Amino acid sequence: MIRVLFICLGNICRSPMGEFILKKMVEEQGLKSKFEIGSAATSTEEIGNPVYPAARRKLAEHGIGCDGKRARQVTKGEYQQYDYFLCMDRRNVENTRRIFGGDPQGKIHMLMEFSGRDGTAEVSDPWYTDDFDTAYNDIYSGCKGFLERVVELL
Ligand code: 4NP
Repeated sequence: MIRVLFICLGNICRSPMGEFILKKMVEEQGLKSKFEIGSAATSTEEIGNPVYPAARRKLAEHGIGCDGKRARQVTKGEYQQYDYFLCMDRRNVENTRRIFGGDPQGKIHMLMEFSGRDGTAEVSDPWYTDDFDTAYNDIYSGCKGFLERVVELL
């Protein structure tokens, strides 16, 4: 079992896109039972809110649903409940590390590390750019690279 938590600032745009893109990929590959996949925020800003409409529409264009998802904040106790924390940008990494009080097992990663791009690359933030295509493509490539890497561990 591989347990993955996507993390962004608000948990209404980027990390839910990661959650539902990866869920679709593992389903298509018949690997659903091998994965536990979720997403969470570092901030309290959007707690309880559904996926942002433009992010929901972008997922829907690709045949991906996200019904029922509500934003929540990651908690310190979750450090032991997941194997990978996939962060969208550097600030998310810093905030997540602070919430956990460190990262002794090296579980916190930048999603784009897995995309074949420079390991410091960040997912373009559509909250500020309004560019949900670029965000989707970044997240898709990160998820694809991540899945290729971890299936070897199953
Ligand atoms: P997300 O996008 O971190 O990708 O969910 C944002 C959502 C809300 C805010 C910023 C980014 N905000 O400032 O409230």
